[in-house]
Amino acid sequence: MKAFTALFVYSLLLSFFRTSTALDAITPSQSIRDGETLVSAGRIFELGFFSPDSSKSRYVGIWFVVSNDTVVWVANRETPLENHHGVLKVTNKGILVLLDSTNTTIWSSNTSRTAGNKVNNPTAQLLDSGNLVVKDGNIESLLWQSFDHPCDTLLSEMKLGWDLVSGLDRYLTSWKSAEDPAPSEISAGLDRRGLPQLVVMKGDKIKVRLGFWNGLNFTGMTWLRPNPLFKYEFVSNEKEIYYEYKVQNNSTFLRYVINSSGIGEGFKWMDHTKSWELTTTTQSDECENYAHCGAYASCDINNSPVCACLKGFIPKSPKDWNSADWSGGCVRGTPLGCNDGDGFLTYKSVKLPDTSSSWFDRNMSLKKCEEMCLENCSCKAYANLDIRNGGSGCLLWFANLFDLVVVQIDGQDLYIRVAASILDHTEKSKHFGQKNQVIIIICSAILLMAMLVLGLLSYVRRKKLRMEGMNIRCQNDSNNEGWNEDMELPIFDLITISNATDNFAINNKLGEGGFGSVYKGTLHGGQEIAVKRLSKNSGQGFNEFKNEVTLIAKLQHRNLVKLLGFCIQENEKMLIYEYLHNKSLDSFIFDQSKSRLLDWRVRHNIISGIARGLLYLHEDSRLRIIHRDLKASNILLDNDMNPKISDFGLAKIFDGDQTNADTNRIVGTYGYMPPEYAGYGQFSVKTDVFSFGVLVLEIVSGKKSKELCNSDQHLNLLGHAWTQWIEDKPMDLIDEFLILGNSYILSEVLRCIHVGLLCVQQKPEDRPNMSSVVLMLSSDNSLPDPGQPGFFTDKALLGEDYSSRNEITCTMLKAR
Ligand SMILES: *[C@@H]1O[C@H](CO)[C@@H](O)[C@H](O)[C@H]1NC(C)=O
Ligand SMILES: *[C@@H]1O[C@H](CO)[C@@H](O)[C@H](O)[C@H]1NC(C)=O
Ligand SMILES: *[C@@H]1O[C@H](CO)[C@@H](O)[C@H](O)[C@H]1NC(C)=O
Ligand SMILES: *[C@@H]1O[C@H](CO)[C@@H](O)[C@H](O)[C@H]1NC(C)=O
Ligand SMILES: *[C@@H]1O[C@H](CO)[C@@H](O)[C@H](O)[C@H]1NC(C)=O
Ligand SMILES: *[C@@H]1O[C@H](CO)[C@@H](O)[C@H](O)[C@H]1NC(C)=O
Ligand SMILES: *[C@@H]1O[C@H](CO)[C@@H](O)[C@H](O)[C@H]1NC(C)=O
Ligand SMILES: *[C@@H]1O[C@H](CO)[C@@H](O)[C@H](O)[C@H]1NC(C)=O
Ligand SMILES: *[C@@H]1O[C@H](CO)[C@@H](O)[C@H](O)[C@H]1NC(C)=O
Repeated sequence: MKAFTALFVYSLLLSFFRTSTALDAITPSQSIRDGETLVSAGRIFELGFFSPDSSKSRYVGIWFVVSNDTVVWVANRETPLENHHGVLKVTNKGILVLLDSTNTTIWSSNTSRTAGNKVNNPTAQLLDSGNLVVKDGNIESLLWQSFDHPCDTLLSEMKLGWDLVSGLDRYLTSWKSAEDPAPSEISAGLDRRGLPQLVVMKGDKIKVRLGFWNGLNFTGMTWLRPNPLFKYEFVSNEKEIYYEYKVQNNSTFLRYVINSSGIGEGFKWMDHTKSWELTTTTQSDECENYAHCGAYASCDINNSPVCACLKGFIPKSPKDWNSADWSGGCVRGTPLGCNDGDGFLTYKSVKLPDTSSSWFDRNMSLKKCEEMCLENCSCKAYANLDIRNGGSGCLLWFANLFDLVVVQIDGQDLYIRVAASILDHTEKSKHFGQKNQVIIIICSAILLMAMLVLGLLSYVRRKKLRMEGMNIRCQNDSNNEGWNEDMELPIFDLITISNATDNFAINNKLGEGGFGSVYKGTLHGGQEIAVKRLSKNSGQGFNEFKNEVTLIAKLQHRNLVKLLGFCIQENEKMLIYEYLHNKSLDSFIFDQSKSRLLDWRVRHNIISGIARGLLYLHEDSRLRIIHRDLKASNILLDNDMNPKISDFGLAKIFDGDQTNADTNRIVGTYGYMPPEYAGYGQFSVKTDVFSFGVLVLEIVSGKKSKELCNSDQHLNLLGHAWTQWIEDKPMDLIDEFLILGNSYILSEVLRCIHVGLLCVQQKPEDRPNMSSVVLMLSSDNSLPDPGQPGFFTDKALLGEDYSSRNEITCTMLKAR
């Protein structure tokens, strides 16, 4: 009886111990039954039995304590338990086993140690990193760890890649569905063939190539940037090749998941909303699909169609190609001469092609690399391997080139082998791009003179070609001779501009920005102009400038400021715009006296005008342009108070060669930038939609989005608008001058606020595109309910995550 009582008390104590101070480890004498859990020492992760979603099956998994439905690892992915009688144990040999009600092992860990070795007092412990480890009591080294067998989630300090000694390959595989954690055919990991690349696979086929490590980041993942949340590294040596990230503050929870659509999603735990915020996805556009355009073709999302054969190559099957079936790709139009004078064409700013059958050398110079490629007839292209310090290393392609993508920013140069005859054809433009500044100046002088002649010639030529029904545009815009043909824009003489602006007199200065200064000028005939004088140290080359000008010259819309011409001379680069008398929108709406001039009719007209201008930039012009710096000071007003968007495309000029990379890296203005762009540099048309939403709310309220620099106010404009909206008091948002003047149409004002809120929603995919916005503004259809805006409190913007940017934010505001 005594013994029985003792046993009873003991087991009572034991169970008390179990439930109150949860264990973080078990030994062979203990076990975890369904309903019991292990909790890591810092109460960050928990291990136990769970059923996903609507499923009845039981699995052993690890989840976040703060969010118990976020399972980051599953043991018995493919062998679920059908009842609640499972038991998890660690054996005397240090093997984790999961037993069902008949004591049958349905899952076990596989220790890398050979069975013969003796194991002493093994323990299985759940660490604060989320790693479940099995340790030998006498030896420090691990017998097994769950981090070596990832499921669909990459946590901080988890290695993605290869242990070359043991041959262990750690890669993620997505769940089959939300109910079934079994591995699907979608996986993400390091492909070791050739130069190792990060890839998303579907079965044994590459789905998306995130690229190789170029010293700073993966070539197809340039949005990965230094940030205050986590550090990351890529390690490649004889023993291992892997990628990993480490959170900087262990009260930040991050996780990266490969989902069953094959898209990587990054999440951050938001403590104040108790939910996961989607911070990044690998999803971008159709060019992301592996080899979308087939062999020897480039994919450029800003072109229509997106696929084009490389120069010197022709569609393998023109019929398929013309019906938008790109999969056949392109073939060489002119055979290589081999040792007989082949050369290389440069493709600038591209995501380099698939390297799975490439040869590489980390030390070889680019010159040597070129020689080596030229020597071997089967070498198709070469490039630098590492972009740090101006580039180093050599990468040679011996197989067909697949998956070449033209990218807007952060691309690399690729040198593609072509026959000498192709080269002769483009010799001029090729060398043009390579010569230095001095020669550029001489060239531009010559260009100036040649312009008249060429203009005439090209007119004649164009006419002739048009009659033959041919398309004169070259297949690849980035290094063609199309400059002369496409320019229909006057070139101004430096002397003319200098005279017009009184030699850039200070009292003619209209404003200043990161790009340089703007001056007012008057031409001889009396025409007034605005001259944008780009700062000399913008680091931008002649070619980039010319591309930009060509691009801007093609944009014509009544809600865009008109470019009249340009000037490039003596190291000066200037854009000449029409001059608009009423200056910019911010000088009206934020000004006590002038804002009275803007009655509701005018404001509504301004909102619709901006929307139409933006729609044109995004969708209707032949090019797809993301403005990236839409704000009140970039909206100019003409005599009739019609809005005209200015500075379009300029943001893009300045990210090519940053002289001040740390602060200028993300071009734009705080207060107008959506979270995904400000935080991670991801941008899309939805970046502009967000800024447009901010603008609409500013125009309606007469308040600056960035009131938060006035310290004690807790909510910024978006937060204010949002709280008024959900409290059903949207009227409180309306500018008092509108109310005083009693000039507004309430339904229209409310509609604008509603649309504004839809545009500033947290997730880019929730925001409407500009064509829907234009429709929403002009119709009476009912609108969806807006979700919470991005950056709705100053905390979200300046709190934990972005505190290091606080200073920049305020100074930038003042400067602008
Ligand atoms: C998760 O937590 C909720 C409430 O905190 C609880 O009702 C639920 O049973 C928990 N689920 C698991 C699997 O522990
Ligand atoms: C399973 O094993 C435990 C302990 O080893 C034992 O008590 C139990 O009876 C066994 N159950 C079955 C169904 O064999
Ligand atoms: C354990 O590993 C061996 C070889 O390393 C392998 O053959 C076996 O299938 C593995 N067992 C399990 C359950 O994964
Ligand atoms: C980590 O974050 C918490 C809350 O987010 C903060 O209170 C703490 O100061 C941070 N620690 C460090 C070292 O930055
Ligand atoms: C945070 O991480 C550091 C380094 O990884 C560790 O030394 C420290 O104990 C951790 N703090 C907490 C509260 O977990
Ligand atoms: C995968 O992630 C993308 C991007 O977040 C999302 O749009 C898609 O719905 C997700 N797919 C699944 C099956 O969850
Ligand atoms: C390559 O360069 C590294 C560092 O610059 C040097 O340590 C290494 O010896 C070089 N390898 C060869 C083969 O030259
Ligand atoms: C050219 O390169 C290929 C692939 O590396 C190699 O197999 C071949 O031997 C080389 N040919 C010559 C002539 O070096
Ligand atoms: C990724 O590469 C681009 C240049 O290609 C650079 O601008 C960006 O800052 C890089 N990211 C990191 C981590 O340095």
